[in-house]
Amino acid sequence: MTDRRGFITKSISAAGALVLNSSFISLPKEKLTELNIEALKKTPEALASDEDFWSQMKQAYTVSPNIINLNNGGVSPAPKVVQESLARQNTYANEAPSYYMWRIMSQGKEPLRENLAKYAGVSPEEIAINRNATEALNTIIMGMTLKAGDEVILSKYDYPNMLHAWRQREQREGIVLKYVDLKLPSESKNELVKIYADQMTAKTKVVHVTHMINWNGQIMPVKEIADLAHKKNIEVVCDGAHTFAHIDHKISDLNCDYYGTSLHKWLCAPIGSGMLWVKKEHITKIYPLIPNDTPLSDDIRKFENLGTRSFPIEQAIGEALNFQYSIGNERKEARLRYLKDYWAKEAIKMERIRLNTSLKSNFSCALAHVGIAGLEAGEMESKLFGKYKVHTSPTKWEALNGIRIAPHIYTSTRDLDRLLDGLKYLHTL
Ligand SMILES: Cc1ncc(COP(=O)(O)O)c(C=O)c1O
Repeated sequence: MTDRRGFITKSISAAGALVLNSSFISLPKEKLTELNIEALKKTPEALASDEDFWSQMKQAYTVSPNIINLNNGGVSPAPKVVQESLARQNTYANEAPSYYMWRIMSQGKEPLRENLAKYAGVSPEEIAINRNATEALNTIIMGMTLKAGDEVILSKYDYPNMLHAWRQREQREGIVLKYVDLKLPSESKNELVKIYADQMTAKTKVVHVTHMINWNGQIMPVKEIADLAHKKNIEVVCDGAHTFAHIDHKISDLNCDYYGTSLHKWLCAPIGSGMLWVKKEHITKIYPLIPNDTPLSDDIRKFENLGTRSFPIEQAIGEALNFQYSIGNERKEARLRYLKDYWAKEAIKMERIRLNTSLKSNFSCALAHVGIAGLEAGEMESKLFGKYKVHTSPTKWEALNGIRIAPHIYTSTRDLDRLLDGLKYLHTL
């Protein structure tokens, strides 16, 4: 943690960065700088409810003024600075793709790796840049050496693409999948850890755990599960698709062995960008999904043998990181949690509403799931969009039946008032 003076100095430069980077257009520059400097002196919690500050933030984006997008969990929009960087680099690449991409832009790859690693609190020699969380986690799931009878612990609430990968290995190689029975939402770390602990046996080789469950936003105690697993020589794969640049944390805090995330979700990097982290000592033994000439090398870059891909997308990730730094993790997390609380605390006053997400900060942040007794997920989603143009994700999965609401930092409380109007209307059906 920086000291207070350091914080204010940083905040003032961050305010400058916001003005420069984010193309705020509604106020003269001097006024904005003044406003931001004052706002950034507040604690993240106090700033979280400062609609003036966050309404400027909205202007860093090009989101539709007519459709309220509350499905930022699927994929998030990139701010203008990121879109512009991408467009610039794309134009540049198309002047002579093989020259500009492979000889010029490629020089930005190692600095990007270093910047991502620094942000994530790990070594650059453990970071591979790729296209999404599916690719990152499939690299690990498919690349591990396991034999028939080896056990893997996972949950039916993990993301389908990862479940499919594990199930393919079960089908082809006879590994054994053991599912934990999660009751969501949960507000007990001990209970959650115990559910995983109870499935661990002498044959268990891997625990797969999703840091924030996409269906209802449940935050899982990854570190506690990993601490226990390691005592039994079990490795931990963490799906960080929903926590990277959402919850203020470092990958190193989680004590897992492997971590994959998309960067086009909460970081707001260009669509089609992702990242894999592998603990240095494990790199050698993981076979890459797309092999290179030395599949058992200890160089993390062996996981980047993806064939031709967009260097402009990759290079514009750096701009998304700058944007994230200019807001600050703590401020972003506090605002996101405030937005969830804003609508959810009001919604639960309605009789038939079923909030399937905890309101405690250790167990959730922006993403939440809500159902209405007697209504199906699809009907809720289509009626809400049809009448109110509020876009959400219909989520019927295991015991959940309703819609997933995921605001982002450009979401205003006015947008959420409209969501609440929509929920009240659904409540009358
Ligand atoms: C928990 C979780 N993991 C992984 C993914 C896959 O992300 P992508 O489609 O970017 O690969 C998602 C996507 O929503 C997700 O919710």
